[in-house]
Amino acid sequence: MAVQTDTRAAAGAVETMNAGAEAACRENEMTDLADINPDPLDEEARRILRLNDKGGYTVPTAGLYPYQWNWDSAFAALGFATFDTDRAWQELETLFGGQWDNGMVPHILFHVMDDGYFPGADVWGTANAVGRGGQELPSSGISQPPVAASLAWKVYKADPGVGEARLRALYPKLVAFHRWIMAARAESGAVCITHPWEAGRDNAPDWDEAMAGIDPVGVASYTRRDTGHVDAKMRPTQADYDRYIWLVQFGRDRDWDDAKIAADSPFRVADPTMTFTCLRSLRDLGLAAELLGEDRAEIDGWIATLEEGAETLWNPETKAYEGRNLRTGNFAGSVSNASALCWWGGVSRPEAVETLDGVLERTRYALPSYDPAGPQYDHLRYWRGPVWAIMNYMAAQGMAEAGLDAQADRIRTDTARLIADRGFAEYFSPVDGTPAGGGTFTWTAAVWLAWASPSAKGA
Ligand code: GLC
Repeated sequence: MAVQTDTRAAAGAVETMNAGAEAACRENEMTDLADINPDPLDEEARRILRLNDKGGYTVPTAGLYPYQWNWDSAFAALGFATFDTDRAWQELETLFGGQWDNGMVPHILFHVMDDGYFPGADVWGTANAVGRGGQELPSSGISQPPVAASLAWKVYKADPGVGEARLRALYPKLVAFHRWIMAARAESGAVCITHPWEAGRDNAPDWDEAMAGIDPVGVASYTRRDTGHVDAKMRPTQADYDRYIWLVQFGRDRDWDDAKIAADSPFRVADPTMTFTCLRSLRDLGLAAELLGEDRAEIDGWIATLEEGAETLWNPETKAYEGRNLRTGNFAGSVSNASALCWWGGVSRPEAVETLDGVLERTRYALPSYDPAGPQYDHLRYWRGPVWAIMNYMAAQGMAEAGLDAQADRIRTDTARLIADRGFAEYFSPVDGTPAGGGTFTWTAAVWLAWASPSAKGA
């Protein structure tokens, strides 16, 4: 396959490739795991990681996302660890090279400016941010789900001989990141977000109530770049975007001061993605502390806080862990793939399994990012329905660890089928497997190599 550097071209290539897959789908001849020959797909996945490698850091996909994103980068490290341990550690080290003095690891690091993305470093205006300290690398002013410690632990386990020294060097930065999260985002016991982008699930229905409460007056005129790369029906709406930018301006006007933002932002939502990924990372950080001979008491205290806080996300009506608006106390009423991260976080209830089984029954390709039975469901629109390989990776591994083998196997098989038949897309329709968003996507390739491929050694 020819090298694709433009995302739109890449998505087009996926579409062409899919004409055959669609026919196969109609004839119900979808690939079985046993029928997949992993070799060419593994090779393609490695090619994508190298293609998106900008020299020490990896972009999610060229064109649509031309910078280093926080949790994308941690997944890139997981993928690199299957064939280049040194490069895997370098990815994490570059990410933490952008850490602020207060411990925050930004959601975007703007290494080399690119006009193809909005909002850029100038719009974020973090130059004088409170907490940034001596950090010179331009960045956004918010963070993203803290998967880095968990994935660093996976990278370590893939090659302990090389990994121990690298993990030891990264360890204090990982601890500082979590100390910042617990101080700046955990006032309700669960971990909350100050912007939908912080959850990594930009337009999830979990934020609808809080977003509706924002009147986006005073947003400076701007041009969206995302819809120049990807079909608008697969992206957030214009109303969402106005509010995203309004919230960026809100933070910038307060010099990204966490205390000021927490005091009066209309958007403050406790989030299952942040809470469960943080909980899991703290458990893995605890293991790292033991390995390195560090004291884990502080980490254990944070785990206890989050275990209790996670229960504030349990909605007895939907029987799922959900986003909860801290300004109103209301649940979103949204059963999502973030709800299914509870097992990854080491938290569960018997009713959560019933809810999961219901979602799996009504879905052709698991896991949908939002329950197909829910009123906001849209099978192609980003985080309101589509399947995301990274969420499947975390959810299914947590399930397997909790003894939910059938559910975990189903999710892994569906992930492998989608990628094998539809390519390394950003996300997929749970209805018919349509590949959506950007193509040649880093984290889809990484998850393939580390877990979904029949050749994966188990991550
Ligand atoms: C989108 C996704 C987010 C991801 C970013 C880069 O904003 O919602 O989770 O980190 O793209 O891939």
